[in-house]
Amino acid sequence: MRPDAKATREHWDRLAATYDQAKARNDVYYRSLKDLFNRAIHPSLRRRVLEVGCGTGGVLASLEPDAGLGVDISERMIEKARSRFAGADNLSFKIVDATEVAALGPFDAVISADVFEHVPDWRAVARAMVGACRPGGVVAISTPNPGWAVPLWVLEKTRLKMPEGPHLFVGARAIADLLSDRGCTIQRRTTHLLLPANLAGVGRKVSEWAETAAVLRRWGVIQLVVARKNDENRVPR
Ligand SMILES: C[S@@+](CC[C@H](N)C(=O)[O-])C[C@H]1O[C@@H](n2cnc3c(N)ncnc32)[C@H](O)[C@@H]1O
Repeated sequence: MRPDAKATREHWDRLAATYDQAKARNDVYYRSLKDLFNRAIHPSLRRRVLEVGCGTGGVLASLEPDAGLGVDISERMIEKARSRFAGADNLSFKIVDATEVAALGPFDAVISADVFEHVPDWRAVARAMVGACRPGGVVAISTPNPGWAVPLWVLEKTRLKMPEGPHLFVGARAIADLLSDRGCTIQRRTTHLLLPANLAGVGRKVSEWAETAAVLRRWGVIQLVVARKNDENRVPR
């Protein structure tokens, strides 16, 4: 289903109250997501960090930025993020549409974890993210692999994962191409987590091994694109 802003906001507003418990049940997936962003964003780029579509703020907080801003279209998610991190002076949260973030910058790092599949116009979001990033900073985007559409649908229907609401998968190559066109240098376009289950500790090892195997390396459930915004570049608005 093509994402629609109103239906998307209502969906995540409904899920906000139980979102963190649902994530805890899929701990392998969310731990991997945090690990990937922690590896993508060098500590020297964590002075000012923006997370677009931050949900309850877990990924942003895991980076331990000096000043981290999380924005989301869902009022309930932002309320949850604010109460979850009420004691964290380095974090703040705001209701802002992903297409509007360019005006909030500049940031050293601009990230988004599993949001592109939920927005009506992911290209507008990618452009806004580049606009919010300072020259020399990094833009990092994760989104589920379109090759996983059927398994993810089955997992959702059998209630083994949380419902995603309106969504349309986006390929990492298209994201990388757009970031290149906007004056970024692609540092990484990879997939991760071939086996998003713990399986007594074996799942993670299999996924790590799959990342080194030529035939499997494209089939991880998480796609990650990391790009550096070129220093001397003037990004067209
Ligand atoms: C799958 S959740 C991911 C949340 C968070 N990044 C995480 O990994 O826990 C998708 C989030 O994107 C937000 N979102 C969807 N469309 C958005 C938009 N147009 N602007 C800002 N946030 C949006 C939703 O409200 C939701 O919180």
